[in-house]
Amino acid sequence: MRIVRIDHFGDPDVLTLTEASAPRPRDGQVLVRVVASAINPVDDKTREGAIGEGAPPLPMILGWELAGIVVDSGTSELPVGERVFGMSHQLDTGRGTWADLVAMPDNALAVAPSTISLVEAATLPLPGLTAAQTLDWLDIRAGERLLVAGAAGAVGGLAVQLARARGARVDALVSRPAQVEVVRKLGAEWATTDRAALPAAAYDAVFDTFGAFVTDAVVDEGRYVSIATQAGPVPDLSHRSVRTTVNQVREDGAGLAELAKIVDAGQVKVRLDSEYSLRDVREAHERFRRGQLTGKIALVF
Ligand SMILES: NC(=O)c1ccc[n+]([C@@H]2O[C@H](COP(=O)([O-])OP(=O)(O)OC[C@H]3O[C@@H](n4cnc5c(N)ncnc54)[C@H](OP(=O)(O)O)[C@@H]3O)[C@@H](O)[C@H]2O)c1
Repeated sequence: MRIVRIDHFGDPDVLTLTEASAPRPRDGQVLVRVVASAINPVDDKTREGAIGEGAPPLPMILGWELAGIVVDSGTSELPVGERVFGMSHQLDTGRGTWADLVAMPDNALAVAPSTISLVEAATLPLPGLTAAQTLDWLDIRAGERLLVAGAAGAVGGLAVQLARARGARVDALVSRPAQVEVVRKLGAEWATTDRAALPAAAYDAVFDTFGAFVTDAVVDEGRYVSIATQAGPVPDLSHRSVRTTVNQVREDGAGLAELAKIVDAGQVKVRLDSEYSLRDVREAHERFRRGQLTGKIALVF
């Protein structure tokens, strides 16, 4: 089977499409034939060597997301032939998804949404679980006001839509004027590129995807979460009784099953910037690095 491996860190030309033997599913694992995956910021940072100590040893297979077909159920209830999607915590486990066959824990998989293609489904697991788990931590309730910083990004765009599905009122901080209309179409009531325009002490909760640390915007006794691990901790807001954390995504098949329901209910739009064949994985990374993305970059196997 084909894998995308790196033997050392560097620019996209360190990505090598090569052959390896197929994995054998262990107890509790399901063998999935991958139809598509997608690129995330963590793949770019891992390839460059920017993760540091938390990365698996070289050589490594990259990739966190997959959508595909079950080819060996093992002891799982997922039948052979089922369409599934899943997130593999590549940094914690070394289990990269950029391979034709991946042995996944069955509790990290769910049946893929039925109303979208597997290529579209492959763009959802990492940002979708990050958005959902972070909204859970924020304990967002219907009618509450949420600010999403970086709302046009992969995680931010899903956070806007999932928070709306939970009944929250959502505003957005974005980086470029073109993104204002994009996030309004996703459900944001109001959006700005100007952090100085954010109202003070107005939001019950802030979901910060890039280390904006717009802490004046949150109410006293509110909640503020960042997912931008590399930007460091959220400033201490205990003097205002604001709860803070830097949230880390976890594998979660049950969370993906919930996400699939929301997608099939039409409450989440999938945003694809472009599709690349697996053999063009280097070009796909170059596209990622050029930025100005309008959605995820899918890798089609
Ligand atoms: N902690 C975790 O478990 C976890 C999980 C998933 C992701 N992450 C991290 O979270 C971050 C977001 O991930 P993602 O997949 O959503 O990435 P993404 O799709 O690249 O989105 C990032 C968004 O933030 C915007 N942005 C960046 N700097 C900005 C600024 N100064 N002002 C306003 N907007 C700004 C970007 O705008 P432009 O398009 O204009 O650049 C983009 O819309 C990444 O750093 C990723 O590594 C962490």
